[in-house]
This record gives sequence, structure tokens and C-alpha cells, in this order.
Amino acid sequence: MQLWLCPLIAFLLGSIPFGLFIARMKGIDIRQHGSGNIGATNVLRVVGKKYGITCLILDALKGFIPTLLAITLIRFEGQETGFTFRGLLDHGYIFSAGDQWKAQSLQVLTGLLSILGHNYSPWVGFKGGKGIATSAGVLIALAPGAVGVLILVWLITFKVSRYVSVASIVAAAMLPPIIIFGSWQHGKIAAGTWNKPLFVFSVVIAALAIWKHRGNIQRLRAGTENRFQPKKKSDA
Ligand code: G3P
Repeated sequence: MQLWLCPLIAFLLGSIPFGLFIARMKGIDIRQHGSGNIGATNVLRVVGKKYGITCLILDALKGFIPTLLAITLIRFEGQETGFTFRGLLDHGYIFSAGDQWKAQSLQVLTGLLSILGHNYSPWVGFKGGKGIATSAGVLIALAPGAVGVLILVWLITFKVSRYVSVASIVAAAMLPPIIIFGSWQHGKIAAGTWNKPLFVFSVVIAALAIWKHRGNIQRLRAGTENRFQPKKKSDA
């Protein structure tokens, strides 16, 4: 099994601009409307709720599927096999327990490439989305517990601020501490559960997400960022 196959599949899947396609089906060039982003938030804002939710699910799946494939096919001796493509478990490459970090690095590299594929898709002139939904999909495969906490952080921040961008930035910034917290036992990081490649990955994707929101940050500072207003009772 070629070890570069999973990262390659991840980049190709990640680069599919679902938001662009969904909006185009309705005759809209999503890049010319709203924030101009091809992500689920802008599709929801410009095209409609069901289209935004469809985009969210598809963008998350293009992170989740290749990462789950990598966890299944690039493993290490003793790795838990609970959350995998069970039919593929007898295939792939198994590193020795001592080389666990190599398998973990290739798993997170696969996730990273699906996010990079989305953020810098060659099909849209390397100007893709901001990677929040795709990162969530990757993290559901790599660290499902962390995603639960992140969704909570995201929802609370959104409810308070009504800005999707603020919720995404705060959730991104919380990711590395949440990963550390997941291995925290008796006042220190427990070596047995510590996944260093996953932590490095969390720092990289958090920084990438915040960098991708720099236009939103400028608009927030200028007071021109798009805000989702709560539905008034009379609208219901
Ligand atoms: O996931 C992207 C979101 O945080 C912001 O989207 O369209 O408001 O720039 P948008």
C-alpha cells in the first residue's frame, strides 16, 4: 500500500468546491455574493438554509472520509480499531508500536491535506473556503470527543455574538487547549494517551482557520461584518 495515497485522495476530495456547485445549481456565483466565501455559512446566507446545511454536510464529509480511511489503512500495532472502515481493516500498512508517531503523523497529514484542498482548491484558482466544516469532519475521525466540546463552544459563542466568524475563530483557538486537556491526568500530560502529531496538527489548523478569517476580523473591527439576527417571534 502506497502511504501517500490517503493524503492524495484527501487533497483531491477536499478540493471539490461543493458550495460553488450548490449555489451554481440555483444560478448564483457564490463568490459574488455575501462574504464571497464558498463555505456553508455563505451558501446558507445567500442561497438558503437547506442548501447551506447540505454544503456543511458535504464539506465535513470530504474531511471525515479520507481521514477515516487513513486511520483504517495506516495504523500502528495496538491502535484501537473502534472507529474505522471495518471491511478494510485487513488491508493497509501497520507500523510497529515504537513507530506509532509515524502512523499518527500520516493520519493527521491526511486530514490536513483535505483541509488544504478545501482552503486552496486548484479548481477555484486556489481561493477556497475557510475550512471550518472540513476541519470538523477531520476531527470527528481523529478526536471525536474534542468535537463535542468544540460544538458547544461554537454554539455558545454564536448565541452570544450572532457572528458565525467569531464563533469559528473562538472554536479554532480553543482546539489546542482542548487536545491537551484530553490527555491531562493528575496535573500533567499522560504519556499513554498523548498524541503529539495530533497536537501539532491542532495548532496548525487553528492558526490556518484564524488566518483564513482575516477578512472577517477586518470587517469586525470596521463594524461591517455580517451578523445573523435572531428570528423575531412575529417572523415565525
Ligand atoms: O466557516 C466560515 C465562517 O466562519 C465565516 O463565513 O461567509 O461569514 O465569511 P463567512
